[in-house]
Amino acid sequence: MTNFTFSTVAHIISETGASDRLGALCAAHFPHARHAMVITDAGFLSTGLVTMPQRSLVDHGFTVQVYADVVADPPEAVVLAAVNFATEHRIDLVIGLGGGSSMDVAKLVAVLAGNGQPIRQIYGIGNVTGQRLPLVQVPTTAGTGSEVTNIAIVTTGATTKSGVVAPQLYADVAVLDATLTLGLPPLVTAATGIDAMVHAIEAFTSRHKKNPMSDMLARQALTLISTNLVTACQDGNNLAARQAMLLGACYAGQAFSNAPVAAVHALAYPIGGVFHVPHGLSNALVLPHVLRFNASHAAAHYGELAAIIAPDATGSDAAKTAALITALETLAAKVGIATTLRQVGITEQDLDRLADDAMLQTRLLGNNPRDVTHADARAIYQAAW
Ligand SMILES: NC(=O)c1ccc[n+]([C@@H]2O[C@H](COP(=O)([O-])OP(=O)(O)OC[C@H]3O[C@@H](n4cnc5c(N)ncnc54)[C@H](O)[C@@H]3O)[C@@H](O)[C@H]2O)c1
Ligand SMILES: [Fe+2]
Repeated sequence: MTNFTFSTVAHIISETGASDRLGALCAAHFPHARHAMVITDAGFLSTGLVTMPQRSLVDHGFTVQVYADVVADPPEAVVLAAVNFATEHRIDLVIGLGGGSSMDVAKLVAVLAGNGQPIRQIYGIGNVTGQRLPLVQVPTTAGTGSEVTNIAIVTTGATTKSGVVAPQLYADVAVLDATLTLGLPPLVTAATGIDAMVHAIEAFTSRHKKNPMSDMLARQALTLISTNLVTACQDGNNLAARQAMLLGACYAGQAFSNAPVAAVHALAYPIGGVFHVPHGLSNALVLPHVLRFNASHAAAHYGELAAIIAPDATGSDAAKTAALITALETLAAKVGIATTLRQVGITEQDLDRLADDAMLQTRLLGNNPRDVTHADARAIYQAAW
């Protein structure tokens, strides 16, 4: 048996409609909190879906500040502005209500407004000291799994991303409510769902921390997402498919929080950083090409996952790996997302720069089943172009 440790959020509520009783949930978990900050972005605010949870909080005696200034792939300045806001308003309960961008900002607000540490000190692994404010995470995309991970991603500098990884980033409560994802357009549903599949696949092949609980969650995540993604994209009002997607993304989040992601994410980050391609789509664009590159070192694991996504696959591990990659490419085509770098405006001249930036993602590359050189990264981008 493999020795391992596994951590996750203590309270996970998966219930369609649960956000309507967010006030009661928060009052029960945090009887001493009074001043809630709901952290979201303008896109989610415009759906009107903030109203019910906000009303529920007010009905249970909370003052509520809705902070909607988060932007996708949040830059450090956005995080710091949110921290200042929290301090000014004496916030004692932080609620992330949005996609990964809003939830990541919520984590950092809970930490930085809670313990006063400067942000520069907390990048990297295990650098948060002290406590954070009470933190509730409510995802509105079924993708990042940020509601159950111990990581927050910040855009630092012009194009680079840095991570904060610390146990304090695990929320107190995560609430999965499909009604909040009803407004997600099909292409966002598709790209964020594929992000979650990548979390599961990369956790399953993570070089250092692969473990039986992450494996179990990754498998179940892939089962849920591969059977519900097309329905959620084509029939966006299907609440059962939407709830299954949220649960799948949550499983995948727990899987990779304990068995971290690797080269797909390392090569995706520069695409998002330099060209502002959404996170899920950036991952989807390089996914098949990274898997093909990894196949020589991870075919046995990919073969196991093929049984879930391409159940008709037979033969050697290499054959099953090829079937897995084909099934993922077919899924991407079916949901209609872009499948080449050139479709998102990247030119062949940009590929060297992408490879330069990808090599800076040493934390992620170290988790990959196969070492990635600069020439390898360049070749993967070329194949994806
Ligand atoms: N912390 C983690 O574990 C983790 C994991 C993966 C990615 N990330 C980070 O998460 C971010 C990406 O998150 P994301 O993919 O969820 O996207 P996002 O949070 O950036 O949101 C994408 C878009 O979808 C809109 N949106 C969100 N919910 C909606 C809804 N229900 N209806 C209509 N529109 C809605 C938003 O307004 C936004 O325009 C990136 O910064 C990435 O680095 C974090
Ligand atoms: Fe991701």
